[in-house]
Amino acid sequence: MRKIPCPWTDPTPLFRHGDAWGRVQPELIDFSVSVNPLGPPAGVLHALRIPQIDRYPDPDSLQLRETLAARHGLEPDQIVAGNGANDLIYAAARAFRPGRVAILEPTYTEYFRASLRVGASVDHWLAEAPGFEPQQFDPDGVDLVWLANPNNPTGRLWDKGQLLGWIGSNPRIMFLVDEAFLPFRADGQAQSLISALAQLPNLVVVRSLTKVFAMPGMRLGYALACGSLAARLREEVVPWSVNSLAQAAGIAALQDSAYLVKTQTWFEEEAQSFEERLGAFSPAIAPVPSQANFVLVKLEGTSAARLSRGLMEYGVTVRPAGNFVGLDDRYLRISARTTGENLRFLHALRTALEEL
Ligand SMILES: Cc1ncc(COP(=O)(O)O)c(C=O)c1O
Repeated sequence: MRKIPCPWTDPTPLFRHGDAWGRVQPELIDFSVSVNPLGPPAGVLHALRIPQIDRYPDPDSLQLRETLAARHGLEPDQIVAGNGANDLIYAAARAFRPGRVAILEPTYTEYFRASLRVGASVDHWLAEAPGFEPQQFDPDGVDLVWLANPNNPTGRLWDKGQLLGWIGSNPRIMFLVDEAFLPFRADGQAQSLISALAQLPNLVVVRSLTKVFAMPGMRLGYALACGSLAARLREEVVPWSVNSLAQAAGIAALQDSAYLVKTQTWFEEEAQSFEERLGAFSPAIAPVPSQANFVLVKLEGTSAARLSRGLMEYGVTVRPAGNFVGLDDRYLRISARTTGENLRFLHALRTALEEL
């Protein structure tokens, strides 16, 4: 890991989330967003047929938090529900008001933006190419560390023992660990830091329900921490920010354990081998080893802008990754989709590369 100076006088371009934004033409297959390609669980769609929009939602999201607490073996008071994981990232920045933060780059840029919003100064610590393996560093002088596990866009997962040891040996520094993509993995529970919350009063874990349950339009996420940190965080979440439909959808999704098994099977059988297939495909494509449902690739002999334009001609869209801190226009992020869609992607890639 090495600390890099912040070269941006205006970081606004870093905060663009790729081409998704609901503007992707419907005929394109979208490999740019890392959402479960199996679609939302049937129970969610059913729950949405009984809308209770003539009443205010439960401001405490109690039933949802009880469902989550039972799932994670915690007390409902240790859980804070939010309007997507993003809501909790911004709430955490407001709640803990760090003067100085460290971010493990390249990563999800909302940690940077949320930190700037509360006036924090930001240290960017860069994992080294080509593997981008996450490592601890000396966080001396920092109030808060942001990291994602597995990380977006690199797909790298921490060694759990190393991460726990690092957090435990820095008790005065707050660690915000974003596990948005961990539930795709069958070992997600074993890899999670949630079971260590009782021993680590300086840890907040953030989770998203939008990725794994394929409902990014719904907006639903949660944070887990010891009771006192959770209370500070809850103070910063705008009342009623989790609407009735999202609460109902979340409960229905969490109750559908068969859906999670199906998703984790898809991850093991299809998503994990996607990286291998991309790597075997052409010397122009060098994938970063991924433990997530998307793959960061480094391109040789072409640029992400050029290749993604070419791919669009063949009906697929990907995420150029040049606006992640520490990456450039040689990097692309490709999310795994269903078997048929992935085959179509590889075919499009072959043709697009031939035509460059
Ligand atoms: C690491 C990470 N955390 C959180 C989010 C946002 O999650 P949500 O849709 O729940 O706000 C994203 C979205 O891309 C992400 O990549």
